Amino acid sequence: MRIVIFGAHGLTGRTLTGQALAAGHEVTAITRRPAEFPVEHARLRVVGADVYDGNAVDAATAGAEAVLSTLGVPFTRKPVSVYSEGIRNITAAMARHGVSRIVAVSSSATYPHHHADGGFLMNRVLQPIVVATIGRSTYADMRIMEEHLRGSGLRWTIVRPSGLFDTPEVSRYRLHENEAPGIFTSRADLAASLLEQLADDRYLRKAVAVTTVEGTPTLWQMMRNEAVKQPGGPRPDRSRTPR
Ligand SMILES: NC(=O)c1ccc[n+]([C@@H]2O[C@H](COP(=O)([O-])OP(=O)(O)OC[C@H]3O[C@@H](n4cnc5c(N)ncnc54)[C@H](OP(=O)(O)O)[C@@H]3O)[C@@H](O)[C@H]2O)c1
Repeated sequence: MRIVIFGAHGLTGRTLTGQALAAGHEVTAITRRPAEFPVEHARLRVVGADVYDGNAVDAATAGAEAVLSTLGVPFTRKPVSVYSEGIRNITAAMARHGVSRIVAVSSSATYPHHHADGGFLMNRVLQPIVVATIGRSTYADMRIMEEHLRGSGLRWTIVRPSGLFDTPEVSRYRLHENEAPGIFTSRADLAASLLEQLADDRYLRKAVAVTTVEGTPTLWQMMRNEAVKQPGGPRPDRSRTPR
């Protein structure tokens, strides 16, 4: 399948790009920093585009059969618009080019809820604090993105991860409609769950939450790792990229 990945340079996006190539797809990776993109492959096209630039998004989307979005920005107290503006330009380009399938990453905290596996600390302390402070503008913009997709007329799926962490391999992750019991999602599992949607319409025009249950960190480990993650992600080893 010909897939366009927005946010391909990010931590999830790179994993997703590798998994999509390994699965035999033709991938167009969208990044604002194409010269720095660390993956080379015969079925990979790296395109420089800012999602705020409708013309660039339009050109990148032409010829695609499906769009995946792992777009994101770090938490900030400033207004966030990349999710909503990005999805507007992406869906407009899809409509123009007759591309109907889109799978976009949101968050399990977009509509905060009780996590069965979350315990007191997550449900009563951390989630309320993050949602009310550093995550407030991000989740507000994610909700606009989700509503835009619901009204788009496209064949959409919203994928909601919980706290992200990194693992080398995909595990036996779990999918639940709308809300996750768990509080962790590995980026490898998130990437795999995005690709899975292209082959399975169970969650077509629905939101699906992804939970990782194997090899999960502690809450403290996850927060520490996310706090020190490099903007745009680490530089992966080129020799491990599938060819
Ligand atoms: N961290 C968590 O615990 C958590 C929990 C739930 C959901 N999420 C969501 O999960 C998704 C993936 O997270 P991640 O940590 O893997 O992402 P990430 O490493 O922060 O990557 C996001 C990518 O989005 C791209 N991007 C940002 N603004 C852009 C723009 N204006 N135009 C084009 N591209 C732009 C950036 O690529 P370039 O700089 O190359 O352009 C960046 O590499 C995000 O949507 C995040 O909000 C995260």
